[in-house]
Amino acid sequence: MYKQNRACYVIGVSKNFWKKLKDKSDSLQRPIIVLAPMADVTDSAFRRIIAKYSKMGTDESVLDCMWTEFVSADGLCHDEARKKLLIDLSYTEAERPIVAQIFTSKPENMREAASLCAKLGFNGVDINMGCPDWSIEKQGCGASLIKNPELAKKLIVAAKDGVRQAGSDIPISVKTRIGYSKNELSTWLPALLSENPAVVTIHARTRKELSLVPARWEHIKEAVSIRDGLGSETLIFGNGDILTTQDAFAKAKETGADGVMIGKGIFGTPDLFLSNPDIKYKDESEKEKIVRRLSIMVEHTKLFEELLGEYKSFAIMKKHYKAYVNGFNGAKELRVELMEAKDSKEIERSVDNFVSNLQV
Ligand SMILES: Cc1cc2nc3c(=O)[nH]c(=O)nc-3n(C[C@H](O)[C@H](O)[C@H](O)COP(=O)(O)O)c2cc1C
Repeated sequence: MYKQNRACYVIGVSKNFWKKLKDKSDSLQRPIIVLAPMADVTDSAFRRIIAKYSKMGTDESVLDCMWTEFVSADGLCHDEARKKLLIDLSYTEAERPIVAQIFTSKPENMREAASLCAKLGFNGVDINMGCPDWSIEKQGCGASLIKNPELAKKLIVAAKDGVRQAGSDIPISVKTRIGYSKNELSTWLPALLSENPAVVTIHARTRKELSLVPARWEHIKEAVSIRDGLGSETLIFGNGDILTTQDAFAKAKETGADGVMIGKGIFGTPDLFLSNPDIKYKDESEKEKIVRRLSIMVEHTKLFEELLGEYKSFAIMKKHYKAYVNGFNGAKELRVELMEAKDSKEIERSVDNFVSNLQV
């Protein structure tokens, strides 16, 4: 059904597309809206579903850019590991603009992996400097880079070199947090800005806070003020706890952020980024709403199986079912049934059965 462009090498896909998105967002008087990288969630199957149902690339959508899940740059530099990781880096034209997120603590691997991402035709390369997972931090990557600004700077330089070596000029960006154990924006952000990344996305929590406290958007405002004080042209995106595009617009207005990144808000609502969902679905009955949601879930499941079934556990789909099947009569019983399912056929059978008995 869908064609993967896994082996498609494109040189120098675009100049700084962030500048174009910034001009567009200024003219529309709204922030740039982007989809967060979420490992084992925003995989190639879910991204295609989001692009389709959020009508990415049309006037009906406010989604400006997608991120891939994070991928190990060290792995991309090894023949054996690369093959599997390239599956995580597969995408379709419908998902553009799309940024590849990679992580490593080794500048030489960053150079090689960024070069590869440019050759694969990505619109940008993002460096993960915020992941709190111990398996990532023990390699000196992710959030542990907040404790090592000199290395973080070298990684940005290496990524830029790599892209240039590929004959490309795609932009390099960074995704990070406000600090490690406490807010360190006043030192951490200037260190990053000194290497002129195109964008710094800031998850408004420290590494220590994980996701255990509410995101503190006042620090996004602080980040914007630090950036402005330095006269830097880097765009600042805020991230954390935004569930609707309306809230994203409000937070950008409050803080002056150029953009907002949305993560968990996309669970169960791949049409989240429609500019006017209330108008689009205004004539729909409650029953039609539920049926539409469940049919997207079945389509998502089939696509996951088709694209990733050979490489990833079907259990990954179960966290999506918890989000899709929610807020209507009989949802709990259906969810319990779906948790037992082993493949898309069983999911489809349960949904068909549920829909044929659905009374709203
Ligand atoms: C399941 C899951 C996987 C994630 N994977 C990544 C990742 O690969 N790279 C990254 O930079 N952040 C990752 N994050 C963090 C999100 O991108 C985001 O910063 C965080 O969820 C806060 O934003 P939200 O409240 O809008 O979800 C992940 C978060 C979740 C919940």
